[in-house]
Amino acid sequence: MPKIHSKQISKELSLLRVDDDEVRYFEALWEIENGITYNSYLLTGEDEVILVDGWKREYADDFSEALKDLIDIRDITHVIVHHMEPDHSGSLAKILKENGFRAEVLGHPLVRGMMKAFYGIDVKFRAVKDGERLSLGGLHLEFFHTPWLHWPETIMTYLRGHGILFSGDAFGGFSIPPAIFDDDDEVVSSYLPFVREYISTIIGSYRQHIPRNVKKLMDQRLEIRMIAPAHGLIWRKNPERIIEYYLKIADGIPEEGKVLVIYASMYGSCEEAGNIVAEELKKQGKRVITYGFTDVRWASINKIIGDAVDSESLIIIAPTYENAVFPTISHVADLIARKIPPNKPILVLSSHGWAGVAGKKLAERFRSANFSVIDVVEFKGKPDEDVKKRILESVSKLLSQSSTN
Ligand SMILES: Cc1cc2nc3c(=O)[nH]c(=O)nc-3n(C[C@H](O)[C@H](O)[C@H](O)COP(=O)(O)O)c2cc1C
Ligand SMILES: [Fe+2]
Ligand SMILES: [Fe+2]
Repeated sequence: MPKIHSKQISKELSLLRVDDDEVRYFEALWEIENGITYNSYLLTGEDEVILVDGWKREYADDFSEALKDLIDIRDITHVIVHHMEPDHSGSLAKILKENGFRAEVLGHPLVRGMMKAFYGIDVKFRAVKDGERLSLGGLHLEFFHTPWLHWPETIMTYLRGHGILFSGDAFGGFSIPPAIFDDDDEVVSSYLPFVREYISTIIGSYRQHIPRNVKKLMDQRLEIRMIAPAHGLIWRKNPERIIEYYLKIADGIPEEGKVLVIYASMYGSCEEAGNIVAEELKKQGKRVITYGFTDVRWASINKIIGDAVDSESLIIIAPTYENAVFPTISHVADLIARKIPPNKPILVLSSHGWAGVAGKKLAERFRSANFSVIDVVEFKGKPDEDVKKRILESVSKLLSQSSTN
């Protein structure tokens, strides 16, 4: 059963958070063993009740019950929609029906059509302009369009006077933190790797919009005392920390010495090449993280993407399979090419039985995404002494070109 948190944060503000420990593959793609939270907020003004985002559809009944413990749903006067992805909007149709569609929905102009298309509902809608200010029941709201964090319709709301930024997906992360706020440094430290995984997998393809939108907010000279995202921890002790972390990951700034070895191996040849590389890198003082796809275990693809983003270099190893790249690595390579900043040199190794093509194809894929592929070693069967020598030479070439070397 998912845990539900209903917490009054201040006189005007309550958090409604559900800890989704049932999801297995977020967006039907990302295997998130540690779950995720959906954070909704309730703002109560003098005569106004403003609902800020919702939960996903599977928790619509729980959401309705949690809201009823705080207010009469018919009293909701406004619903601010920061993002239409159904992990947040999926429960809103039920709430709006229970509300008798009295509430005015506030959002980016695209929201009205999405509401109709996703849920078949016509809502009382008010499009908010970028930079628009609106005072409701003594609450002074300011809306900012922040496109592509994570969809084109994403906005943020700043509650002037209180210094609260409702940021939607941005500044959120995967996992179910054991706290509501960022007060405890240990909680924050163990949460940040899940934020890194979230940024690189979910927002990775739109990463250039992170610094662009952060600059836009900074140019407003907002006094941000609290960041209230739609996933994960609320930042009140140190909101700058999550902003800086987002900027660092968006740029793919490497952790010094961190190198990723990713391989698939049906019968052990590529695994052997992976072991040779990992051993050599460790000898050279690198912190090596290895992910393998074999006949007894499969790596987590979102962990690979999360670790690739701040590695200083990558080694990708795959067999040739039916005259192409082995499927799992083909998938991983495609995700890396789309979602990871190309500021890391890549070494490609590949084994084949009769005619190798995987190495060349992988190199082409990465080069087309502006990665520097420093070497490709194609070999037949298991790496023999000669191949081993070539692999070690290419590793030293890779190290001489790593960004923090
Ligand atoms: C299903 C399957 C398809 C393969 N397709 C090709 C191929 O198209 N071209 C080729 O040269 N080798 C092919 N091979 C041979 C492998 O690439 C070769 O055995 C390689 O060494 C396997 O590496 P591994 O031991 O790391 O799995 C194929 C092997 C299998 C099992
Ligand atoms: Fe999203
Ligand atoms: Fe989301």
